[in-house]
Amino acid sequence: MSDISVIGLGAMGSALASTLIKSGYTVTVWNRSSEKIPSLVSQGATAATSAADAIASSPATIICIKSHDQTLELLQTCEASLNNKTIIELSTGGASEADALTQFVTARGGSWLVGIINAYPTAIGGEDTVLTIVAEPTLWEKWRPHISTLGGGSIHVGTNASMLAALFAALFTTRQGFMFGMLYGALVCQKAGIPLDNFAKLIPVSMGVLPSYHKYFADTAPTGNFDNPPATMATYAAALDDALKTFDEVGAPNELPKLFSDAAHKGMDAGLEDKALTALVALLNQN
Ligand SMILES: NC(=O)c1ccc[n+]([C@@H]2O[C@H](COP(=O)([O-])OP(=O)(O)OC[C@H]3O[C@@H](n4cnc5c(N)ncnc54)[C@H](OP(=O)(O)O)[C@@H]3O)[C@@H](O)[C@H]2O)c1
Repeated sequence: MSDISVIGLGAMGSALASTLIKSGYTVTVWNRSSEKIPSLVSQGATAATSAADAIASSPATIICIKSHDQTLELLQTCEASLNNKTIIELSTGGASEADALTQFVTARGGSWLVGIINAYPTAIGGEDTVLTIVAEPTLWEKWRPHISTLGGGSIHVGTNASMLAALFAALFTTRQGFMFGMLYGALVCQKAGIPLDNFAKLIPVSMGVLPSYHKYFADTAPTGNFDNPPATMATYAAALDDALKTFDEVGAPNELPKLFSDAAHKGMDAGLEDKALTALVALLNQN
């Protein structure tokens, strides 16, 4: 019996298995095509003869292949081995696929953790590397040492398998807010005759304010305390109106500034003018 098995020895699975071996765990490995196995065996891993053999060889098996759908297909070929075993699914996937996979494992007497790896393979084993995990709290505590070996900053975010896809969507949308802000900023610059290299050079100046935006959000949205903000909904609404007016005056496409301005005005209409802009989190989900 090994401490843990790893199925899938691509760029990421190999890094996971290698890091566990270096940290002193005994590791059994399996990969669909055999040519990736000898490198891990030379590092100290034991080669399983099949996916079912890998699962049977350890109390828990990390799976890191393509997506949850492929993991489910693979587990359907070895369902008899799942009873009393833990599957740690680290392949990427969507909400409904995560639900289907975890229900399959549970129905066969197994337990599960599902995670997103927020790093490249080269960062596996790093102190600050983060794997975001959903699982029952007892399973998280049990397998936390192994997961923390892979990413020292790993965190447990909930118990529902589909939460990870929502969390990914939230974080991705946050980044894309910035990306699309630059795209629409370029549109208004172009219409106003401002060279885009000047705009690009000035973006880092504007980025300097992002930590204080994050603090504004973190101090208000999670607590629901929107009183006495450093800048009120009314202040934001006025500035957003100015920006929208400029887009319109120079003839630039205005979808993004209009979205912002409309949202702030919903807050104003609801009587939130002296509250933080982040009070929109509470307001918009009521609709
Ligand atoms: N690489 C990254 O930077 C990174 C970062 C975060 C998350 N991830 C996630 O980690 C997972 C693996 O990524 P990777 O970079 O390691 O990919 P990769 O290098 O392309 O390796 C894919 C692995 O999955 C196996 N595989 C694919 N389909 C399979 C199937 N139907 N049944 C069994 N095995 C199958 C492949 O086996 P064969 O060798 O037989 O083809 C290979 O071992 C993905 O879900 C990815 O989104 C990767």
